[in-house]
Amino acid sequence: MIHVDNVSKIYNQGKREVTALSEISFTLNDRESLLIMGKSGSGKSTLLHLIAGLERVSSGRIYLGKREITALKDRELTLLRREKIGIIFQLFNLLENLTVSENIALPLILARKTSSYIKREVERVMELVDLRDRANHRTGELSGGEMQRVAIGRAIIKKSEIILADEPTGNLDSKTGKKILSLISHLVKENGSSLIIVTHDVKATSLCKKQMTLKDGRQV
Ligand SMILES: Nc1ncnc2c1ncn2[C@@H]1O[C@H](COP(=O)(O)OP(=O)(O)OP(=O)(O)O)[C@@H](O)[C@H]1O
Ligand SMILES: [Mg+2]
Repeated sequence: MIHVDNVSKIYNQGKREVTALSEISFTLNDRESLLIMGKSGSGKSTLLHLIAGLERVSSGRIYLGKREITALKDRELTLLRREKIGIIFQLFNLLENLTVSENIALPLILARKTSSYIKREVERVMELVDLRDRANHRTGELSGGEMQRVAIGRAIIKKSEIILADEPTGNLDSKTGKKILSLISHLVKENGSSLIIVTHDVKATSLCKKQMTLKDGRQV
């Protein structure tokens, strides 16, 4: 369960303040999906960053299950993220000097899984995201859609409780986009994860039971 309680985020840029989010509240139960919509600059990515614990709220609280993540120290947040959260963000965060299979394996290496388990799971996930023939390519040498699929593979390999996806089909042709959306929904079902997805892609509406629109940082 994800519970966001009256959360606001104000960025200070010198003397100028930007209110990126204002008094956001919602609850997402286990296995539920939430679609977030809104114009550019409305606060969508900021909200995902706060839930991922990559940035700090200005006020309010966020709970993952019973744990209040807004009360955790940086070190605890890193561990929590590693364990429970799969992140598919706009700027992939892939390590471009590692190969496709190394990038996908990374969460399991960090979790100190055995090498035979890692090998098996990497094979399985690369099949799912259709990247078997790119296994030994460095991610810096891939197309945008291929990188997106590596990011998805890396997010799902650890069977995260929560998947946060920020425009996962942005910059993709509609056929590849469709494939990626159905891949995400398949994985969410298979792993029983909760999903929060930011997208302008109308095809995603059927995928999510709950929807939320942001306007200038507020829920409308
Ligand atoms: N690090 C930052 N410092 C200052 N202001 C920021 C920062 N990050 C975001 N903002 C501001 O906060 C507001 C919300 O940004 P955010 O990235 O959440 O929008 P978004 O809805 O994801 O937009 P897009 O659809 O273009 O990705 C914007 O006005 C943006 O300029
Ligand atoms: Mg954004």
